[in-house]
Amino acid sequence: MTSSAEPTDWLERDQKVVAQSPYAPPLVLEKGRRCEVWDVHGRRFLDFESGQFCMSTGHSHPRIAQVAGEQAAILMQIGNRFTNPARILLAERLADLAPDPLAMSFFCSTGSEANETALRIAKLVTGRFEVLAQARGYHGRTASAYGASSSARRMRRGAGPQPPGIGFISPPYTYRCPFTCGTCDLSCWKHSIEMVDRATSGEPAAVIVEFVLGAGGVIPVPPDWAKAVRQFCDERDALLIADEALTGLGRTGRWFAFEHAGIVPDIVVISKALGGGVPTAAIITTGAVAEAALQRGFIQAASHQGDPFQCAVALANLDVIQEEDLVRNAERMGQRLADGLQRLATRHQIVGEARGLGLIAGLEIIDGVEEAPELAAVVSLACLERGLIVGGLRPGIREGNTLRFAPPLTVTAAEIDEALTITEAALVAVDAGQSGRTAVGATAGIRS
Ligand SMILES: Cc1ncc(COP(=O)(O)O)c(C=O)c1O
Repeated sequence: MTSSAEPTDWLERDQKVVAQSPYAPPLVLEKGRRCEVWDVHGRRFLDFESGQFCMSTGHSHPRIAQVAGEQAAILMQIGNRFTNPARILLAERLADLAPDPLAMSFFCSTGSEANETALRIAKLVTGRFEVLAQARGYHGRTASAYGASSSARRMRRGAGPQPPGIGFISPPYTYRCPFTCGTCDLSCWKHSIEMVDRATSGEPAAVIVEFVLGAGGVIPVPPDWAKAVRQFCDERDALLIADEALTGLGRTGRWFAFEHAGIVPDIVVISKALGGGVPTAAIITTGAVAEAALQRGFIQAASHQGDPFQCAVALANLDVIQEEDLVRNAERMGQRLADGLQRLATRHQIVGEARGLGLIAGLEIIDGVEEAPELAAVVSLACLERGLIVGGLRPGIREGNTLRFAPPLTVTAAEIDEALTITEAALVAVDAGQSGRTAVGATAGIRS
């Protein structure tokens, strides 16, 4: 679609008819290609958010566009009473990609819905009702997924009572570890279990984990912490749910982030990157869990679950990831990004830490030693003004003070270098008090 009205009208028109969040959109985007997007004024931006982590294979990949068009012309949606070849092929592919014994898929549309479903399955299969989640985790906006989320402080203000039975464990956040461990020595884990045993039955249905906490500050989980969670689940007969909505399907340089720790969860949730831009999500689990759910009468019944259209596009998307060797590219480009961000951290006082795993990376912005969400917003805006989209423009959404870098897995060395150059220019400008400070919390900087 091309803009039919004066380009400057779009934001005003948006505000008149689209219910707004507290963070008004700063750009009106019109087209994209690989790692780049353009707005209605023809301005080009590097998209280091990959849409919202959904465009792992890049914007407007010709193969995906072609398959979407072809499948739309054949059969799009059939309801959940029937199956179709694309759904079967996609489930077979996921069984091949996931390590044993993960072999059975349930399909749905979004990460929230998939997490909700995973929690429901875990409760049904174990006959228990409690769930443990990481503080700073984010799992979605539906009731249980939201109840298990705590990525931003006071995020449940005004939301009323949450589902009962959800307990929180400390995240292994070494940069701000309350036990000042430096390198994670599992003090946070031991303290968490002490609290769990005092405040809950100690026998949860599931522990739900992000192996890189995304919205809560881009915090990779140390392998020993992941192993401790696996051991806890084994000892307590609880299911380990890996929420890989952000990290799944190659982003961390492995197909799944849990592989870095050498463990296998009981349920894996994948969403965003699965559909190549089309809302598609899957829960991959073991034959034993799927069978137990069936025996106990579990019904997955949504309008869109394994639609031929969703599944055909997801398959084409996985073909692209495999044929273009994008998991390896994520590992190589992730290292280049990490090295560059590390250099920025040593050169700029307002950068507290650079961290990440593969192509999900964060720069924590500080003022002295304090978290500096407003400053992070200024840096993010200064990046945007210079043509780089990074997560962090909206303070409060991802704990506010960590900029998130997550380009498509197709990203090139030149694009990584360009993004680092822009980020450095933004940091220099903000250091010098030259850029964007007046536009904190607003979007005027980019609109003008
Ligand atoms: C780790 C994680 N899980 C779940 C979700 C929710 O996914 P969706 O927005 O598709 O419902 C998100 C969204 O950002 C996420 O980051």
